[in-house]
Amino acid sequence: MEIRGILAADREQLCKLILDVYRDSVLAMWFEREPGQEELNELFAYKLKAMRDKMAVDLVAIESGRVIGECEIMIKDGTCSVGVIVDKQSRSRGIGTKLLSDALGVARSMGVGSAVAEIADSNVGAQSFFRKNGFVEKGIASRTIKRQGKTHRVLYFERDLSAR
Ligand SMILES: CC(C)(COP(=O)(O)OP(=O)(O)OC[C@H]1O[C@@H](n2cnc3c(N)ncnc32)[C@H](O)[C@@H]1OP(=O)(O)O)[C@@H](O)C(=O)NCCC(=O)NCCS
Repeated sequence: MEIRGILAADREQLCKLILDVYRDSVLAMWFEREPGQEELNELFAYKLKAMRDKMAVDLVAIESGRVIGECEIMIKDGTCSVGVIVDKQSRSRGIGTKLLSDALGVARSMGVGSAVAEIADSNVGAQSFFRKNGFVEKGIASRTIKRQGKTHRVLYFERDLSAR
């Protein structure tokens, strides 16, 4: 398994991974409804540009030529927000942890002092993942997630990057 920054050539596979994870767990993603190909392409172009402009760190995990995971970190005002997705068949092998740790390492080297993850209150798997990776629950985020007429609370997790 190789971890590296996203490349233009990853577009098709990364868009497919994002769509697969959305379909499997709609509360893990911020799209209000299933994204179409055009929306996914726009998102991918935004990711590439943000990385080029040093406003983001976006790493993918590659295995046998396939994109099987991604960690996206968006940087703003010395802090960053984090999202991690791993292909369902490839979970519980430490890939999410490795992606997160590598991406946070790059962010730290760019002077970022803290990281935030916002997770739906029903997404207990992701909460456990972030806790295991040194994030501490700080409360309820101001944003909510609306799906099929239901509003879900979002929990706010934080990690201080100055302490290793
Ligand atoms: C969260 C996610 C990225 C973890 O990726 P991963 O490669 O499986 O993570 P790792 O193997 O490094 O760590 C797995 C650990 O996370 C926790 N965890 C992950 N999913 C879990 C679940 N459904 N239930 C309980 N714990 C879970 C556990 O502590 C687990 O350790 P274990 O396998 O020893 O039980 C992956 O489950 C995923 O893509 N989920 C859907 C998308 C999502 O919710 N992303 C987070 C919001 S951005």
